[in-house]
Amino acid sequence: MKRMGVLSFQGDVYEHIFAIKKAIKNLGLSMVVNEIKTGDDMNDIDALVIPGGESTTIGKFISIYDMDDKIKEFAVEGKPILGTCAGMILLAKKGDSKNLLGIMNMEIKRNAFGRQRESFETDIDIDNIGKYHAVFIRAPVIKRVWGNCRLMAKLDNKDNKGVMARQDNIIALAFHPELTDDTRIQEYFLKMVVCEELTMKILKNIGMRKNWIYEVIVTTLYNKNPYAAPIGVWTEDFDTIKMCIYRNSTTLGNIIREREFAVNFVDDIGIFYKSLFNKNEIMYENSIVIDASVIKNSTASIELRVKEMVEKREGDGFFIEGEILSVQIRDKIKLINRAECLALESLIYATKINHLPENIKNIREILKENYRIIRKIAPNSEYENIMERLQGSLNLLD
Ligand SMILES: Cc1cc2nc3c(=O)[nH]c(=O)nc-3n(C[C@H](O)[C@H](O)[C@H](O)COP(=O)(O)O)c2cc1C
Repeated sequence: MKRMGVLSFQGDVYEHIFAIKKAIKNLGLSMVVNEIKTGDDMNDIDALVIPGGESTTIGKFISIYDMDDKIKEFAVEGKPILGTCAGMILLAKKGDSKNLLGIMNMEIKRNAFGRQRESFETDIDIDNIGKYHAVFIRAPVIKRVWGNCRLMAKLDNKDNKGVMARQDNIIALAFHPELTDDTRIQEYFLKMVVCEELTMKILKNIGMRKNWIYEVIVTTLYNKNPYAAPIGVWTEDFDTIKMCIYRNSTTLGNIIREREFAVNFVDDIGIFYKSLFNKNEIMYENSIVIDASVIKNSTASIELRVKEMVEKREGDGFFIEGEILSVQIRDKIKLINRAECLALESLIYATKINHLPENIKNIREILKENYRIIRKIAPNSEYENIMERLQGSLNLLD
């Protein structure tokens, strides 16, 4: 069971614990929430919340209890951290405070809204979350971000008025999500906690092999409705997923427009059929970060954002590379690669030569074509080896 910790020196600790517990319940997760008061307490947690309060006071306690390095290590290990208001100040690398932990590539300004606007509420637009009613209390602001830190929300659409940022597994907010009933930010964070570790190693963990092509169902958004189509995908580096899509397909249009899609692994060929010929029979469920839905009875779905899109030289399609945003695993994953089917089919055809020798010309062509495809979709595989030996033993190689 995953364990969440809330740094409990000062500030609105209990409001955070309450809001996180509510979000855990909303998502149907089992997770423990601990108060963190010493460095040793941090050994037992998978994610940390640094609450709002007095950044100077919280910063002093962090030093007194020698927790500076512990928190930095936690961040380097890729464990998720959520810092709100004072927590955001402490996470920054630059700013007008003496107590910076120097973890996030951002510059902050404390009490950025002056005395007149010490506290205010306003609607903001948050990437991946949407419209959000935010409560600001003597709030800091993010003046700039650099490197791998990106703004997720800003005030007045100005880059120097950032109010939420994400750097890998670390999120910083200038406002107080624990003071509203809306738990979408806590839910977003919790999804990171349960997914992030998985996300980083997912393609290797599920057994994908470099450059092999796997048949999946890609879901996209079409006129605000979910849309599904079977597509072959591969990975070259285990970090991103690539695919090549016909120019005239609806799926390509959807991806060009939305810049995001999901790859759904299914083990039921019937779902492939439905996604081509009975699309309205496909059952969907909500995705975690993208707008497009994912397939409900898939064994796993991976949500991706377009990293690169290049038109194929021959002009009949586009290569698309997606970076992984989120992963949901529901069941044991069975990867589908056509090479297995083609190798078996080739063996069956080979036996036919003995029984139906008049068909040898046709069979020779089928085996050659299967060999060509296998080399493309499962390079250096046992299937390629079987085809070479098969054609050799039948004297079919040119
Ligand atoms: C198993 C399977 C794999 C497929 N792989 C691809 C692919 O890699 N790229 C592609 O463009 N179409 C592929 N297709 C064909 C598309 O699914 C098909 O063109 C579909 O109609 C998509 O078009 P649409 O987006 O307009 O619905 C595949 C079909 C099947 C059944």
